[in-house]
Amino acid sequence: MGKSNRKGRKKAILILIICIVVIGLGTLGGTLYVTSAGNVKHKSNEIILPGTDSNRNALIIYQPGRSEYGTTIATNLAKGLNESGYEVTINYPGDFLSENLEEYEIVAFGTTVYNGELSPVLGDYVSAIKNIDNSKILIYSTGMMTDNSSELDELSKLLYRKADYLEKFLSNQEESEVKRAYDLGITLGGS
Ligand SMILES: Cc1cc2nc3c(=O)[nH]c(=O)nc-3n(C[C@H](O)[C@H](O)[C@H](O)COP(=O)(O)O)c2cc1C
Repeated sequence: MGKSNRKGRKKAILILIICIVVIGLGTLGGTLYVTSAGNVKHKSNEIILPGTDSNRNALIIYQPGRSEYGTTIATNLAKGLNESGYEVTINYPGDFLSENLEEYEIVAFGTTVYNGELSPVLGDYVSAIKNIDNSKILIYSTGMMTDNSSELDELSKLLYRKADYLEKFLSNQEESEVKRAYDLGITLGGS
């Protein structure tokens, strides 16, 4: 093999290694970015859907992921509750929220799930909740895996009382799951 041929081969191998390293770091960075969504401490973003009866209040606290899916599920759950006559408050979890939720007849907590882990930000808030003995409680997650929903049990354990409903909304079946979230809102608000 000639000297210039060997040089060319070395250069090609070096370029290949650089490409593999760059793609690997990019994939790792992208994965870390997505999976860190559950740790993000969002600012308060309270949205209130006024109800027809001022005594019927529902609350949805959810941790969004990196896509719009978590927000779409929370919004459709809220629409269903609202159509059942409830005033619905939607917000992210955080220190800005009250821990005393006795004014709410219905309370929903929604978490993201990455690598089997629920959102620590939502978990911290749920651990601090008081006074929802008489409320209807929904705990839900937004994820992709059908064969594992341990995040629901983990989040349930952090709440001082048992939840009435546990649901997982699958992000790879968005259309039907968004409708299911709306229908669940109607069911919770109606029964
Ligand atoms: C690295 C990674 C790990 C994931 N781990 C889980 C998991 O353990 N359980 C699950 O149900 N979904 C898992 N998912 C799917 C996400 O929870 C699902 O895509 C979710 O809707 C993410 O929302 P986002 O796309 O808005 O960030 C994972 C996704 C990624 C990218």
